[in-house]
Amino acid sequence: MKAVVYPKYGHPNVLEIRELEKPFPGPGEILVRVHASSVNIAEWYAMTGLLFARLRGGLFKPKNTRLGADFAGVVEAVGKDVSDFKPGDEVFGGRGGAFAEYVTVRNAIAHKPTKVTFEEAAAVPTAGLTALQGLRDHGKIQPGQKVLINGASGGVGSFAIQIAKALGAEVTAVCSTRNAAHARSLGADHVIDYTKENFTRSGQQYDLLLNVNGSRSWSEYKRVLKPDAIFVLVGGPRTPLIGPLSLFIKTRIGMLGSSQKFVFFIAQFNREDMLVLKDLLETGKVKPFIERTYPMSQITEAMSHLGKGHAQGKIVVTMGKNGKS
Ligand SMILES: NC(=O)c1ccc[n+]([C@@H]2O[C@H](COP(=O)([O-])OP(=O)(O)OC[C@H]3O[C@@H](n4cnc5c(N)ncnc54)[C@H](OP(=O)(O)O)[C@@H]3O)[C@@H](O)[C@H]2O)c1
Repeated sequence: MKAVVYPKYGHPNVLEIRELEKPFPGPGEILVRVHASSVNIAEWYAMTGLLFARLRGGLFKPKNTRLGADFAGVVEAVGKDVSDFKPGDEVFGGRGGAFAEYVTVRNAIAHKPTKVTFEEAAAVPTAGLTALQGLRDHGKIQPGQKVLINGASGGVGSFAIQIAKALGAEVTAVCSTRNAAHARSLGADHVIDYTKENFTRSGQQYDLLLNVNGSRSWSEYKRVLKPDAIFVLVGGPRTPLIGPLSLFIKTRIGMLGSSQKFVFFIAQFNREDMLVLKDLLETGKVKPFIERTYPMSQITEAMSHLGKGHAQGKIVVTMGKNGKS
């Protein structure tokens, strides 16, 4: 099977498509023929060799050269003890090495709603789970709360607007001029254009601040937080080598002794939350927004697009012969 690999750290031109052995489903595993995947910042950090990626995955060169996490496709075979999936089922989920024609999956997999395309489903797992877990588990979002999403127009932000609305919040989205209409179309009640207005000077205060992109000082963030607010840090500026770590450290120190709660988290793949996302897709409460789809043969272009930091919604990659799904 064809798979994308990165034999060394670097920018997208390190990516290669290689012929690898097709995996076989072991006990409890599901073999999926991947139709589409989508790109995420985690892949960018792994490929470019962020410090944490190197500490975990090889200091000078990657130990595991496979890339990708999100997939949507069709079950080709199942291992012993798998009863809830069968060959032919259309599925989506998360699994390392998903930039490939096949993956074997154990946990983070759900049936794909029939009205959602493979490309749309592939856009969901990482970004959708991050938005869901950030708002629901770490932000403790409640109906009627005022929620501000900073960096609301990219992969995670586009899901966060829709999930926050589905959970009954009043949503303010912070994005640039070209994305204002996009944020409104996803359901944002209020939109602040960061190129024209500093949201920390709006005079408004929020119960929950989800920081997906953009970076402000702690004293600025504090101005928009109610005394019992929760500030969830999802991401921030892509500082070379350390990513959003500097924002995390500065905010953690700045928040010492304050009444507000500060949380940073790493999203987890699991079947329960994949089922929540499946339900949100089925009921139409969440609709993936795809800016552009690339064939696997153009993975370098897809990653370069992501790396510019201005994707609108998600960037999808189709797998299979000639990259067609
Ligand atoms: N904690 C976790 O588990 C987890 C999981 C996934 C992702 N993340 C993090 O979440 C962040 C976003 O991921 P993503 O997939 O959404 O990225 P993305 O799709 O690449 O985000 C691009 C978006 O960011 C917006 N943006 C850029 N600069 C901004 C600024 N100064 N203020 C507000 N918006 C700005 C862009 O809008 P404009 O073009 O309008 O500027 C664009 O729409 C990353 O830092 C990533 O590391 C964390």
